[in-house]
Amino acid sequence: MKVESVRGMRDILPEEAGLWQKLENEIRSVFSLYGYREIRLPLLELAELFSRTVGEATDIVHKEMYVFPDKKGQMLALRPEATASVVRAYIEHGLYAKGDLAKLYYIGPMFRYEKPQRGRQRQFHQYGVEALGSLDPALDAEVIDLAWHLMERVGLSREGLFLRLNSIGCREDRPLYREALRSYFSGQKEKLCLDCQRRLEENPLRILDCKEPQCQGAITGAPKSLDYLCEKCREHFEELLSILRDLGLSYELDPRLVRGIDYYTRTVFELCSRELGAQDALLGGGRYDDLVELLGGPPTPGVGFAGGMERLVLVLSQNRPVDAEAPDLDVYLVPIGEEGRRKALEILASLRRLGIATDLDYMGRSLRKVMSVAARRARYALLLGPDELSQGKVNLKDLRSGTSSTLPLPEFLARPRDFLS
Ligand code: HAM
Repeated sequence: MKVESVRGMRDILPEEAGLWQKLENEIRSVFSLYGYREIRLPLLELAELFSRTVGEATDIVHKEMYVFPDKKGQMLALRPEATASVVRAYIEHGLYAKGDLAKLYYIGPMFRYEKPQRGRQRQFHQYGVEALGSLDPALDAEVIDLAWHLMERVGLSREGLFLRLNSIGCREDRPLYREALRSYFSGQKEKLCLDCQRRLEENPLRILDCKEPQCQGAITGAPKSLDYLCEKCREHFEELLSILRDLGLSYELDPRLVRGIDYYTRTVFELCSRELGAQDALLGGGRYDDLVELLGGPPTPGVGFAGGMERLVLVLSQNRPVDAEAPDLDVYLVPIGEEGRRKALEILASLRRLGIATDLDYMGRSLRKVMSVAARRARYALLLGPDELSQGKVNLKDLRSGTSSTLPLPEFLARPRDFLS
């Protein structure tokens, strides 16, 4: 029987991996510009970490999390997101003790048992930042500015993107808003899907995340979180909006954006693409001012976002035709005859130690075939013919211009970069 990959889990083949590497480099470089440092976290966590933070009533925990017992019966989860893990690590390693703002970033795979579709996989990859230690709305603005900046840096235009923004208030505001939603949706109960009828009991905020067509009518008329903010939360949000305007960053207020995760407080946002269709959120984030305390750490506010690599790759590759594969090698060695081949093995090892990307044919191909592989893979071909070799020389061919020159081999090996542009 043929063994295939698991549904919703994709292989990223070398042709595509080049774009991934380029994006990852850009992402790391923009994150560093804003003072974030990388944190690498395990893929497995105690399942409890997510049920307590993301929330029991969320789709992520209730329906989508990969949970299983280990050999001792401890319930583990493949991480569905990384914010909870960052906060767990922040507390576990006492990162708060420095009394400074902790700015952390991550890139890596996450797992959610969702229905696979365009822009939605079961193993997907997130890049994200978390800033822990400040309530300043200027930090929310900085995180949003970072998101915009990053999207522009990887080649998306501002016109093709829009920012959805809302504030859902603090833990004092939440019971009032929740009650308003509960009493509103109770009157519409028969219009709601079965899941939303359950959510009505567990956490009516989660009804606002529902994508079922039958619930949309009721959701449209639901109370807005902005009408339930306390004075401090209102001021925080006003200040954020004012900074965003100063920075020239546009936003669309979306009074029903609540973001499908329970740990959020105050600011929530999503940066979306006009070109993605149903799964249009390139990235999403917000504040989580109670999360550190909830996991047993000292009261510490936080704000961050995470984006999906697959969605980024999708918009980028639908915007422009995939480039013909660029050469990945500096030099392709083309030995002629057995003697040339023995010499080629030595030259190959030397050039690689000098940092020159080099390869040769291991498939016994004809000279013509080898030259065509060289033309596709490398910028130069180094021809090792018996006549030249007997005089200690080699022939370097520029595969772009077609010109070639004969060089003394020791001179080439001493300073190969002088001969390669
Ligand atoms: P999230 O909205 O669940 O937030 O995920 C963030 C992003 O990950 C989404 O906007 C989307 O681009 C991508 N994504 C999510 N699920 C999938 C999937 N099944 N397939 C492909 N891409 C997907 C969080 O995870 C929060 N931890 C973000 C955050 C960080 N909030 C504060 N800090």
